[in-house]
Amino acid sequence: MIPVCVPLLAGNELNYVTDAVASGWISSSGKYVTRFEEAFARYCGVKHGVATCNGTTALHLAVVALGLGSGDEVIIPNFTMIATAFAVAYTGARPVFVDADERTWNIDVARIEERITPRTKAVLVVSIFGNPCDMNAIRRLAEKHHLAVIEDAAESHGAEYFGKKTGALADITAFSFFANKNLTTGEGGMVVTDNDELADRCRYFKNLCFPLRAPRSYVHDDVGFNYRMSNLHAAIGLAQVEKADEYRAMRIRNAQRYKEDLQGIPGISFQQTTAGGLHVHWMNGILLDPSRFGRTRDELIGLLHERGIETRPFFVGMHRQPSLRKRGCGPEGDFSVSDRLAAHGLYLPSGSGLTQEEIEKVCGAVREIGAG
Ligand SMILES: Cc1ncc(COP(=O)(O)O)c(C=O)c1O
Repeated sequence: MIPVCVPLLAGNELNYVTDAVASGWISSSGKYVTRFEEAFARYCGVKHGVATCNGTTALHLAVVALGLGSGDEVIIPNFTMIATAFAVAYTGARPVFVDADERTWNIDVARIEERITPRTKAVLVVSIFGNPCDMNAIRRLAEKHHLAVIEDAAESHGAEYFGKKTGALADITAFSFFANKNLTTGEGGMVVTDNDELADRCRYFKNLCFPLRAPRSYVHDDVGFNYRMSNLHAAIGLAQVEKADEYRAMRIRNAQRYKEDLQGIPGISFQQTTAGGLHVHWMNGILLDPSRFGRTRDELIGLLHERGIETRPFFVGMHRQPSLRKRGCGPEGDFSVSDRLAAHGLYLPSGSGLTQEEIEKVCGAVREIGAG
């Protein structure tokens, strides 16, 4: 089987984890947490990194740090992974959905304004599959309507927009380091920001609201969370950041190979990179036009599986999630682009360490199935 994604742990991961174990520092105190936070924040080009136990908690912390809650609305892309919406819903704020742009598959910036109301406090954008968002346009809208900008960069470590990396493009940004991400700690996340106050609030809320700069009194002024990352996970993270540029180049090279090989097949189209963007291809997604390709997406997934190739269908739009409807997030609006992506899109194997032979095998199988 060629798996859809396997982590690449080709640097100092084992050395650093062994060192952490030998030192006895295996929970969240320990030098690797700070070193990882500093190294990743530096990589993004911002001042602060606050490590958490996964990307969902990082996103939740970002929303909490901005003080959002009941009565507030946060604009999010309709085409995203469910954690984007849940992170908003946990706070009591309401996620409001905007359909995807049919070229970039990111939020359709031209349709954000129609969803803004007096309750809107923030726009939370997602650089989907590693494609950075059109942040100049998003920032202009946010300034006009006095909104905070949050980025869910779970899938876009190292992506750039006009030379600036994700992490440095919004007021506050959340990353995931799940095993399939471009950089991984197994499970893990991080909030990054240039804003000292937001960083402090993240540190405070992530650790049960223990006071940041006062002795431990065990008296807590606010309700906080235990979202701490362990020193063991951070040890893996530091080793991954050391390889960040190398892994990014591998992901980009793999995407180019896929595109060159699949380009001429009728009925297959690709995500288009945002103007001014450097796409880091967390996943190599393709969109089928079944009438031209000759097979449906689900048929292609099944036939690739028979040939030892693992794939995944795209995310289902937020407007189709019963969990969110129960929270009063209505399905009103036109979400035809998300619906088309959800019905006809799939990811091909995408790990950084994928070989040229594996990519050729996958492309050969897709071509044969389409022609068959
Ligand atoms: C866009 C997006 N947001 C948030 C998450 C949540 O991250 P995690 O699985 O680390 O909680 C993920 C990934 O899995 C994701 O793809």
